[in-house]
Amino acid sequence: MSKGIAVLGSTGSIGRQTLEVCKAYPEQLKPVALTAMRNIELLEEQIREYKPQVVVVGDKDLGKLLKERVAGLPVSVYGGNEYLVEAVTHPHVHTVVTAVSGAVGLLPTLAAIRAGKTIALANKETLVAAGELVMEAVATHNTPLLPVDSEHSALFQCMEGNRREDIHKLILTASGGPFRGWTIEQLQEVSPQQALKHPRWNMGAKITIDSATLMNKGLEVIEAKHLFGIDYDHIEVVVHPQSIVHSMVKYKDGSILAQMGTADMRLPIQYALTWPERWEGGPNSQLDLLQLGSLTFETPDWEVFPALSLAYHAGRTGGTMPTVLNGANEEAVHAFLQGRIRFPAIVEIVAKVMEKHKVIQKPDLEAILAADRESRKKASEWIARYIS
Ligand SMILES: NC(=O)c1ccc[n+]([C@@H]2O[C@H](COP(=O)([O-])OP(=O)(O)OC[C@H]3O[C@@H](n4cnc5c(N)ncnc54)[C@H](OP(=O)(O)O)[C@@H]3O)[C@@H](O)[C@H]2O)c1
Repeated sequence: MSKGIAVLGSTGSIGRQTLEVCKAYPEQLKPVALTAMRNIELLEEQIREYKPQVVVVGDKDLGKLLKERVAGLPVSVYGGNEYLVEAVTHPHVHTVVTAVSGAVGLLPTLAAIRAGKTIALANKETLVAAGELVMEAVATHNTPLLPVDSEHSALFQCMEGNRREDIHKLILTASGGPFRGWTIEQLQEVSPQQALKHPRWNMGAKITIDSATLMNKGLEVIEAKHLFGIDYDHIEVVVHPQSIVHSMVKYKDGSILAQMGTADMRLPIQYALTWPERWEGGPNSQLDLLQLGSLTFETPDWEVFPALSLAYHAGRTGGTMPTVLNGANEEAVHAFLQGRIRFPAIVEIVAKVMEKHKVIQKPDLEAILAADRESRKKASEWIARYIS
């Protein structure tokens, strides 16, 4: 029997690769619902190729336009993100791949969890913004939550068959991004084009900038804390420029288990869709150890990349602080991509917004959404000050 898949963000980097995995297994994996924000050209192609039953376009006007273009095809097209909930809770959906970028993934992810769908989570911002709420919902509804992020997929795989209480620490690997080895002075003049050139991974713009500031690794530390229930003192980050070891788990006897693979997101995506089984991987998933030569590991440069300590601080503070870290970061990254602020200002602005935030511990959904809105507003104010 085939498994119905909803892809939130099907036109993005993870979304497109998810559909490639579905294409490799047409009998077993059936895209039922696809969503995007604006890219209706690609959505139309995807509708014609994958024949989903439901499609949501975040932009309402573009949703109308797409509806006209595919009139006559057996697909329901909706305009507006409020319909994301329809997409993920469709009765034929078994697994929801959350591949949107940003905290916009939160509400549909919660709806999917409550509807008992399996979640293949790529959208780390959701867990950063509302980790406790999401994990509580997962526990209440007994929903499988499978990591897609390569580091968390690696940790998950290194934990299988082992006891949680035997874990000493999680070791997240980071490529170091395009500016590994740079000085604070050199980072002043970085352009969006330079920051968008990741040495190992080809990803969407937001995560690529986060990888350049190392905020991505900070967000992943918070994601790991929530996914695996390990406290921050036992989550370490090491820079591993080759991006072959995707992360490691150290056990209390001193053993370290590592998961290795090519830098190809189709591998963790496929594992999340086929778990607990392993299916044949594509030609790009075959790692040739003899060709690798050597693997190296080094300490991150905490001074040049302060985003990492800021994320640990937000995580340890808890409550609404990670929500604020995430919201302010999304706004600042957006401003940098538009050429409105300099590269180092991204993290400076996040720090300034966090500094003034009055944390609410144990926030409910309303408090999370309010903190998210407030952090974006404050970040926009700081962005305006940086420009003037
Ligand atoms: N790319 C990777 O290799 C990778 C690896 C690990 C984790 N992740 C995580 O996976 C998520 C997606 O990353 P990505 O690189 O695939 O991003 P991406 O290429 O930018 O794609 C984002 C997708 O989300 C849609 N979208 C953007 N803003 C939206 C909004 N406000 N409302 C509804 N839909 C929206 C986009 O639609 P349009 O195309 O119409 O704009 C697109 O389909 C992120 O959370 C990222 O951290 C990515």
